[in-house]
Amino acid sequence: MSRFYVTTPIYYVNDVPHIGHAYTTVTADALARWHRLLGDDVRFLTGTDEHGLKIQRAAEANGVTPLEQADRTSARFRDTWAALDISNDDFVRTTEARHRHAVQTFLQRVHDNGWIEPKTYAGWYCVACEAYYTADDLDDGELCPIHGRPVEWLEEENYFFRLSAFEQPLLDWYEAHPDAVQPEGKRNEALGLIRQGLEDVSITRTSLDWGVPVPWDPGHVFYVWYDALINYATAVGYGADEAEFATWWPAVHHLLGKDILRFHCVYWPAMLLAAGEQPPHRLHVHGYLLVGGEKMSKTRLNQIFPADLVADFGVDGFRYHFLRDQPFGPDGDFSYEGMVTRYNTDLANNLGNLLSRVVTVVGKKCGGIGPAPDPDSPLAPVAAAAVAEVTAAWEAVTPSRALEATWRLVRDANAHLEANEPWKADPGPAVDRVLGDALEVLRIVAVLASPALTRAPTEIWRRIGLSGDPGSARVPDDVAWGGYPGGLAVTKGPALFPRLVAP
Ligand code: MSP
Repeated sequence: MSRFYVTTPIYYVNDVPHIGHAYTTVTADALARWHRLLGDDVRFLTGTDEHGLKIQRAAEANGVTPLEQADRTSARFRDTWAALDISNDDFVRTTEARHRHAVQTFLQRVHDNGWIEPKTYAGWYCVACEAYYTADDLDDGELCPIHGRPVEWLEEENYFFRLSAFEQPLLDWYEAHPDAVQPEGKRNEALGLIRQGLEDVSITRTSLDWGVPVPWDPGHVFYVWYDALINYATAVGYGADEAEFATWWPAVHHLLGKDILRFHCVYWPAMLLAAGEQPPHRLHVHGYLLVGGEKMSKTRLNQIFPADLVADFGVDGFRYHFLRDQPFGPDGDFSYEGMVTRYNTDLANNLGNLLSRVVTVVGKKCGGIGPAPDPDSPLAPVAAAAVAEVTAAWEAVTPSRALEATWRLVRDANAHLEANEPWKADPGPAVDRVLGDALEVLRIVAVLASPALTRAPTEIWRRIGLSGDPGSARVPDDVAWGGYPGGLAVTKGPALFPRLVAP
C-alpha cells in the first residue's frame, strides 16, 4: 500500500485564522481526501506554532500569559478547521510535551554530530518574521522587507547551526532530487539562495524564555523556527517511536506559502541532514492570496475570515472556490464577486441543475426508478478521460485542473441531455438510456468532487438511490463506467446549491 503524509505549515497563534491560512489547509485536506480515494494510507497533519517573541508580545498586549494566548488561539484554529470539514489525523501544538521531547532529541543529535557551536550574535531583527536581516536586506535601510515595519537591533550570546557546511550537501541533494520543490520556479529560487552562499545561523535565544529549553545549556531556548520545523517529525514519532518515524519519513509532502520557502527549502533539509535524516520528499510552494492586491495581514486590516464566507457560500462553496479559482502556485487575488460567479456557474447551474433535472425527469418518465446506464454511452469515454485527467492533476498538486476536468464532464452530461431532450420524449428504452447515463455521471462526479466538496456528494448519492459515502469509494475501480446499478428509487429535494444574488 502507498503511504501519503501531508502537512500544512503550523500557524502562529498571535493571530486568528483567516482565508490565507484556510487556503493552504483546504488544499492539504483535499489532497489527503484524494489519496484516501486512491486507497493510500494517509496521514494529514496541521497544528499551531506557539513559541517565540511574537507570541510572547501578543500575550503581553492581550494581558494574558503566553500559554493562555496559545490555548485560546490554537482552539480557534481547531474550531475553524472543524467548521471547514478539515480531516486532519493529528493536530500538533509546539507547547506539547511530545514536541518538546522531539525538538530536544533532534537538536541534541545535531549538536552531538558537531554541527552546533556557541557564538555572539548581533543583527537587525524583525519580530513579525522572527528573523534576522542584514542591513542590505532592509527596505529604506530600516524596514523589514516583508512587513515594512522597523526592525530592532538585537545582540545575544547564542548557539549557531553550521549551515555554511551544508552548501554542497544541499546542492548535491537537490541535484539527486530534481522534483523535490514544486513548482520548478520555486526550486530555482531555493537553489539560488543556496548558491548565494550560506552563513551559519543562530538557533537559540537567551533574551526570552518562551521556548523549548536547550538540553545541553538550559539558560537558552531554541529559536522558534528551529523548534517549529521539527513539528513535522514530532507527529510521526521522532525520538519516541523509531518504527513509526521510519514508516512515514522521508515520504512527506509539505505544503507552504512562498514567504517561508527559505526555512523549508534550505534550513529544514540542512537540519535533517545534520541530524542524520533524509530531507523531505516534496515541498509544494504556493503564492499569496491577495486582497485588493496586498497580502492579508493584521497590520493592513484586510483580513477576511472563513466563517463570514461560509455563512454566504456554505462549506462546499467555500472549499470549491479556493480549490478551483486560486491555482496552486502563483499569487491570486481574492474577489467576492468572482466567488459568486463561480458558485452560480459551476455549483448552482451546472452541477445543481444536472441533479435536479435528472431527478425530475426520472420521476416523470421512469416512475421515479433510476435506469441503468448504457455500456456504450458516448459519455463513457468522456468520463474515462475525466478520471485520467483528475488523477494526473492531483498527482501534480493542481486542484483547479482536477476540478476543471470534473466539471467538463458535468457540462458534457448536461449537453447530452439537451441534445436528447428526454423530458419531451415518450417513456421507453431511449429515454432510459439517456437518463441512466446522466445518473452514472452524477455517481462518478460525486466521487471525483469529494476531495473538494465534503457535503453535496453524499447528498447526490442519496438522491440517486445509492447508500454510503462517495468519499469512501476507491479510484479507479469505483469510477469506471457502468457502476450505477439501475432499479434504485430516485428522490427529489431542495436545490443543492441555491443560486446567489451578488449584493
Ligand atoms: N509559523 C510559521 C510556519 C512554521 S511551519 C514549520 C508561519 N505561520 S503563519 O501563520 O504566519 O503562516 C503560515 C502559512 O499560512 C503560510 O506559509 C501560508 O501557507 C499561509 N498563509 C498565511 N497568509 C497567507 C496569504 N495571505 N496567502 C496564502 N497563504 C497564506 O509562517
